[in-house]
This record gives sequence, structure tokens and C-alpha cells, in this order.
Amino acid sequence: MQVLDTKKMKKVVVLGTGGTIAGTAASANDHTGYTAGQLGVQQLLDAIPGLNDVLQGDSLQCVQVAQLDSKDMDHATWQALAQRCAHWLAQPDVGGIVITHGTDTLEETAWFLQQVQRTTKPVVLTCAMRPASALTPDGPQNLLDAVAVVLDPMARGVLAVCAGRIHNAREVQKIHPYRLDAFSSGESGPRGWVEQGRVRWADPGSWPMAHVHASQAMALSVADWPWVAVVQSHAGSDARQVQALVAAGVKGLVVAGTGNGTVHQSLLTALAQAQAEGVAVRLTTRCAEGQIVGQAAALQMAPTGLNAYKARVSLMLDLMG
Ligand code: SIN
Repeated sequence: MQVLDTKKMKKVVVLGTGGTIAGTAASANDHTGYTAGQLGVQQLLDAIPGLNDVLQGDSLQCVQVAQLDSKDMDHATWQALAQRCAHWLAQPDVGGIVITHGTDTLEETAWFLQQVQRTTKPVVLTCAMRPASALTPDGPQNLLDAVAVVLDPMARGVLAVCAGRIHNAREVQKIHPYRLDAFSSGESGPRGWVEQGRVRWADPGSWPMAHVHASQAMALSVADWPWVAVVQSHAGSDARQVQALVAAGVKGLVVAGTGNGTVHQSLLTALAQAQAEGVAVRLTTRCAEGQIVGQAAALQMAPTGLNAYKARVSLMLDLMG
């Protein structure tokens, strides 16, 4: 009886940020020539049949935080989003948050939020690969699934839901530019699945902690966030790329190395020089799966398992100390 009462009190807050899920095209069979971030989050919720069946008496509240194509995601929007999350998650009647987001930088936003949230309540990002105006859009099902996940009693931390699969913020990565199931958790596999509104967890496991500098990220003006850039090591890499970034005042560099964390010789001297001048340098691998193993690297490693873009988020937070 007590469980039922608690359940009735739950509110899910849906924060809209734009993306293809809120995108529209001139024609219903156009899946690529659309404009992202056109419909408000309330319109997205209104378009979902069966939402009340999933809610079963729980309530929804929606807030439009941004309206953008996530390729243009910026630190100010991240900070505003994190502050909104913190505000709502502190309310005792709020069970969790769903965020509608573009697919292109969803994994970076997910990792940033995971690093700065100090709550165990779930924050579930969802998205779509087809615009809302498509003949068969994927956004409504993804949004419905995200609400089901946020209401699941086992849901914790920052998660991403797409195409019936639940991913951890740490592992999730966009791996396909067009397919509906565009996300993968690589070798670790999805955190779970949503099947006909029911959540099945692969393994409840343990939940990641917030970054030690989470409160600085919320309090500092984003103009004062340290500038951290990603440098790719590739055939024909040129030291001038690193030198230009250092001359322009970069505070940190994340190097996406080849294979097992090797770096083009043209970059190594410039990176060592950058380190000597006080620039923080971290090494990751360009490989989509696995992690650097047994490498006595000249450069300091990024936290295990993070891709270059998430390592950039973590290094930026490290440097806020
Ligand atoms: C975006 O990332 O906002 C556009 C692309 C997408 O959502 O699939």
C-alpha cells in the first residue's frame, strides 16, 4: 500500500533541447533534408499514444531548455541543463528526468551530466534518427521508452535510450549516421532493454559517482571553463595543429591516438612541449572498442574506457579544480 502511495506521488520532468526528435521536413519521406529543433517538447509528448498507460497515474511536466541542432551544443546550454536537472531532482516528488536531445552529441551531454549530477535519481536522454514529420518517426517510441525507464525503480544515474536499448552515459556512442539503432555501448553491451513498455536490465550493477569538481562546473561562468581541445593522430599529422592551439591559449589537449594509444611522431614533440608549458595532455585511442592496454605511454592516460570527446569533458572538469 505504501509503495502504491509513493508511486502516485512521482513526477517525471521532460526537458526539451531540440534535435531530430523535434525536427521537421517538407516531405514525410525525407529523413535527411530536415531542420532539427522545430517542435516544442510539449508537442512531442502530445504526439505519443499510450503515454498514460506507461505513466499509470504518475504525472509529467515539461520544460523547453533549448531548441538546437546538437552539433551546435555549447557549454552554456550544458550548464543550464545541469542546473535545471539539479533543481528538479532536488524536489522530493520528482522521480527523474527525461531529456530530448539530438543524436550527434548526445553521448557528450550524457557524460557531462553524469559527471556533475550528485543524485542517484535517473536522468534519461532520448532522441530520434528520423524527424517528427516522417511517415514513421522513431521519436515517439523512444520518448515513451525513456519515460518507462525513468519510472523503473532500478533506474539510476544518467542513461540514454534509443531503439529499445538502454545505455550507460560512460559507454554510449553514436556509431551510425542513419540507422534507427544508431547507438552502441561497444563491448560492454547495452545496460538493458525496453520491451513493450517493460524494462529489462542486463545487470543492475553499480552506479558512477559525480566528478569531484561538479559544483565548480555549475558555479563558474562558462566563459571561465578551461579550454580543452581534441587532437586526432592520423597519417600526415602536423605539429602546427598543436602549436597553434597552445599559442591560442588552450589549457588541455585530449589526443585520440591510433590503435593502442600510439601517436604520430610529428605530434609527440609538440605535445611534450605543450606539457612542459603547463598544458594538460591526456591520451585516448581512436578505436571504437576496447581500451589502451599495457602501454608505457609518454602521455598521461585519459580515464579508462572514455572516448576522446568524453575524455575532453572529464579533463575540462579536472582543470576546474
Ligand atoms: C542533432 O543532433 O540535433 C541532429 C541530428 C539528430 O538528432 O539525429
